[in-house]
Amino acid sequence: SLNKISIAIDGPAGAGKSTIAKLIARTMNLTYIDTGAMYRAITFKILRDRIDLSNEIKLLDFLNQTKIDIVNGEILLDDLLITEKLRTPEINHYVSNIAQIPIVRKKMVELQRRIAANHNVIMDGRDIGTTVLPNATHKFFITASIEERAQRRYNELCIKGFHQDLQEVQAEIEQRDKIDTERTISPLKKHENAILIDTTGMTIEEVTDKILSYIK
Ligand code: CDP
Ligand code: CDP
Repeated sequence: SLNKISIAIDGPAGAGKSTIAKLIARTMNLTYIDTGAMYRAITFKILRDRIDLSNEIKLLDFLNQTKIDIVNGEILLDDLLITEKLRTPEINHYVSNIAQIPIVRKKMVELQRRIAANHNVIMDGRDIGTTVLPNATHKFFITASIEERAQRRYNELCIKGFHQDLQEVQAEIEQRDKIDTERTISPLKKHENAILIDTTGMTIEEVTDKILSYIK
């Protein structure tokens, strides 16, 4: 509708999407939607409940019985706050496989569009500019070298007390990027109108200022 702002931020793992989207949301008073957290929440529940992914009818049933909400940037799964449980090595390992299942994507995209219809949003993910919000008012594709993205993620895991070595973290990110880029349905891809920002060697503040300069 008129004067509605919608900002799409896509890019590979560790590019800085969620950190920067949160800062811009605060600066511009937008609703921040972390779509990766939604795929992580579904993955969390599939692993917890040992859902059989080979049975599409059961999976559809499971999806219909699952409620995901985002309240103040926190993820609620079936009314339980689970934000803290989503960034584990186990979920990192499985999430891209689950995110390529067509009925999983269909449900998530519907939910994401419903939120965007009622709010001024900044949404980060893989398919926001290409699929979820094709009419977004602003589109960015942010990336960084694989070495820097791995190092950023490694630092983050260390702080959280997970002990994975740097090579392992890099291999996991490469594997996830490969699945995300090569999947059939809405793969990770820069929309032709998206502004490309290579954040290698840039601080969070520098990237945020650069994006804000394009918006204003
Ligand atoms: O934070 P990080 O970039 O590591 O991952 P994320 O944004 O939390 O996304 C986790 C995974 O969810 C991605 O690797 C994709 O497989 C999937 N995803 C997706 O398919 N589409 C989106 N719009 C967002 C995430
Ligand atoms: O959401 P995405 O996977 O794209 O990345 P993120 O979770 O926002 O950022 C990954 C890590 O890199 C975070 O710990 C950020 O603080 C850090 N980061 C950084 O050091 N320099 C940047 N320019 C961007 C992010």
